[in-house]
Amino acid sequence: MSKRDEQLREAAAVEVEKHREQVEADPYRLSFHHMPPVGLMNDPNGLVQWKGEYHLFYQWMPFKTDHGEKFWGHYISEDFVNWRHERIALTPSEWYDKDGCYSGSAIIHEDQLYLFYTGNVFNEEGEQEEYQCVATSKDGLHFEKKGPVIYVPEGYTSNFRDPKVWKKGEKWYLVVGAQNQHEQGKVLLYRSSNLLDWELLGPVAGSNENRLGDFGYMWECPDLFQLHDQDILIVSPQGLQPDGMKYNNTYQSGYFAGQLAAEDCSLEHGVFHELDRGFEFYAPQTFLDEKGRRILYGWMGVPEQNEQSHPTVSQKWIHALTVPRVLDWDGSQILQQPVPELAEMREAVLLHSEITITNDQKAVRGVEGKPVELRMEFEEVEDQFALEIFHYVSFSYKKSDGVLTLSRPQFEDKSQTEFRRTVLQEGLKELHLFIDHSSIEIFVNGGKEVFTSRIFPQTEDDDILFTSLGTSTFSIEKWKLSG
Ligand code: FRU
Repeated sequence: MSKRDEQLREAAAVEVEKHREQVEADPYRLSFHHMPPVGLMNDPNGLVQWKGEYHLFYQWMPFKTDHGEKFWGHYISEDFVNWRHERIALTPSEWYDKDGCYSGSAIIHEDQLYLFYTGNVFNEEGEQEEYQCVATSKDGLHFEKKGPVIYVPEGYTSNFRDPKVWKKGEKWYLVVGAQNQHEQGKVLLYRSSNLLDWELLGPVAGSNENRLGDFGYMWECPDLFQLHDQDILIVSPQGLQPDGMKYNNTYQSGYFAGQLAAEDCSLEHGVFHELDRGFEFYAPQTFLDEKGRRILYGWMGVPEQNEQSHPTVSQKWIHALTVPRVLDWDGSQILQQPVPELAEMREAVLLHSEITITNDQKAVRGVEGKPVELRMEFEEVEDQFALEIFHYVSFSYKKSDGVLTLSRPQFEDKSQTEFRRTVLQEGLKELHLFIDHSSIEIFVNGGKEVFTSRIFPQTEDDDILFTSLGTSTFSIEKWKLSG
């Protein structure tokens, strides 16, 4: 541990203590999502299951509710429900990461936990430098930095970050987000036999690759893995323009499905699908757990949103992660479902079968409160159906055109409403909602679509209202959730 590392740990611990009471008193604190103890949280990092325990690291700025010199915070759980906040894994303490231990991934090798992350530096001229670095641990808690192992290759700019590593056969592979000198976002593929010496195979996908055309100036947080018979590349491209219902957040996260030939550095892939339709979702990462499930966490935030417009900022914290989702492939797209372990949070169940509403808005006895989980199965939606939650957020489905709409007041001007929409290619069959004190995650039809958003209702408001134009018939289950 260097002197600088010690100082940074100490300073972060002081900051946590200084604001603990104020942060914890915030009624918008979430009860079953990961949050920073103080300051700002962004991307999930280093997801891995090791010796039965789930490790979840995250981008953390302890000293302000804004971006800056990131630390890697660390949570551990055995069951996805009970989490321990552990000692800080990485601090920005060395010359090669002094302005941030940026995003990356984890793997297990020879009974050690390896973290691959991006060292971010602003040099004396104020120019950015980014290095792919390694740190290792024997106990999963204390990490020893090994320094940079990959440098920006010829023809690329210093936007070069977020390494994701995996093993296939005897070889290790790594993808990293990059930008070439023509300001095109790319994903570079590397190969190694010892995790320290890496050979560049080339760009495996990107803007102006694989017949894609212009598709963003930088690709962040790539993740490449197999799901059934598909190779999936998840990526967060920067610089897409809004296109009707698509690409309305500052930046997007989504995936390409196709076939990877790693040795030829080729990924034949189809179109880009956004993973989430809500207002706050970015920089997801996946991992394979010991049961063989592909599990995803996302950041429940987006970059460059006016941070000051979040009401939690006055309480000294901002942002959170999504609930973990299991990924599946249905033959044509990814399905995302909350991990079944979350059912452990259920306290009391309330079940109503066969509710029919015709041209009316109703409350359903017992369906209110927070935090809650709701599952609704639809027998019929004749025309339109909508849920209004806490007099703040509304989610609707219109049968004639299949449009799903999530709307809420704008953070900066509450008199204005903002929308996110998508078209459901089939009828509305099922809604599964996870509602926390200041967030909502809506899984539609077994995870064909997901809408994730922060919500900031009046804290005492816990009404959930159901509206139908024409007749809607459905059953509903509600669980009160423990944190
Ligand atoms: C994505 C991102 C990453 C970077 C990290 C820094 O949100 O910009 O590309 O590594 O955040 O915190």
